[in-house]
Amino acid sequence: MKAILLTEPGLQNLKLGQSTLADLKPGDLRIEVKATSLNPVDYKLSTHGHPSWTYPHTPGVDGAGVVLEVGPEVQGIQVGDRVFYHGDLTRAGSFAEQVLVDHRAVTVLPAEMSFEEGAALPCAGLTAYQALVRFCNLQAGQTVLVQGGAGGVGSFAVQIAHQWGARVIATASPAKHELVRSLGADEVIDYRDPEQMVEQVLQFSAGGVDIVLDTVSRASSTLGLQMVRPSGQLAFIAGRPEPEAVQQLGHPIKVHEVMLGGAHVRKDDAAIRDLSRMGEALSSMVVQGKVKVLISQHIGLPEIPEWLIKLKAGEVPFGKVVATL
Ligand SMILES: NC(=O)c1ccc[n+]([C@@H]2O[C@H](COP(=O)([O-])OP(=O)(O)OC[C@H]3O[C@@H](n4cnc5c(N)ncnc54)[C@H](OP(=O)(O)O)[C@@H]3O)[C@@H](O)[C@H]2O)c1
Repeated sequence: MKAILLTEPGLQNLKLGQSTLADLKPGDLRIEVKATSLNPVDYKLSTHGHPSWTYPHTPGVDGAGVVLEVGPEVQGIQVGDRVFYHGDLTRAGSFAEQVLVDHRAVTVLPAEMSFEEGAALPCAGLTAYQALVRFCNLQAGQTVLVQGGAGGVGSFAVQIAHQWGARVIATASPAKHELVRSLGADEVIDYRDPEQMVEQVLQFSAGGVDIVLDTVSRASSTLGLQMVRPSGQLAFIAGRPEPEAVQQLGHPIKVHEVMLGGAHVRKDDAAIRDLSRMGEALSSMVVQGKVKVLISQHIGLPEIPEWLIKLKAGEVPFGKVVATL
């Protein structure tokens, strides 16, 4: 089958080639990949490799497709089902015509959604949902700050928080303010002057927000500490805040580290099954028109390597890049 192959660690070492699938294990589905989306974890791991990978390796954590075969011990999924999933990054991934996925992690793709929408949802959407709903127990009436509101995760987070009835403040570069507002943000702030940004957030939130979701970096989550009200919460996905800054805060907050793929890495049954449940919840919001899946770029399998480089360089205009197979 056609697949993107990483011959050795290094983003320049990705190329289109031929690959074969491993044997189906108990609990596995063999899926014909119809669409796959690009995520920062794909370029990060392709750059540095992963201890569990042998080369050539096929990356790609997200996908959507049709079930071709079910392994022993599979329950609730049939051959022919349309599904989407966030896969186990230690296994051969979805930048290929077929993939093996643990059936517990997959969600049936609603008939109203395209394979492209299904593929764009998991890593970004489930991370936003897990951070806000599962970890922070988001409530209507709360004020939420999404740092990186125009990104893959941030654009889902803004919409989820808005739908929950929260007041949403988001940070984004000026060219994207209109877009982020259209997703439901009440205030959008330019992040390029950090001091001014903190001042504006404190002003809009009357002294601090209930929840900060940082999707950017360690420096940004550290800055986020200054904008959480006492007893509020900070969830981060791309870098822990500096421990000294947490200690020096002078008031208690809850800090959550979000690691969506940890469910697979720890082989935690409840957490793997929750990937599927969160997929159901989020896709039903999409079907009801409450959440839009933002796809800025449609590509084919051969273009994945060049678009991973563009994603890393910050050259994706907004939302997700999706490859149709
Ligand atoms: N821990 C987990 O489970 C998990 C899951 C998913 C993703 N992640 C990580 O989370 C990060 C974001 O992922 P993504 O898919 O959303 O990436 P993305 O689609 O590339 O979006 C990144 C966004 O960051 C924004 N940005 C850059 N610098 C910023 C700053 N100083 N302040 C505010 N915003 C800034 C950019 O905004 P502008 O376009 O407005 O400049 C861009 O929209 C990546 O590092 C990824 O690896 C972690």
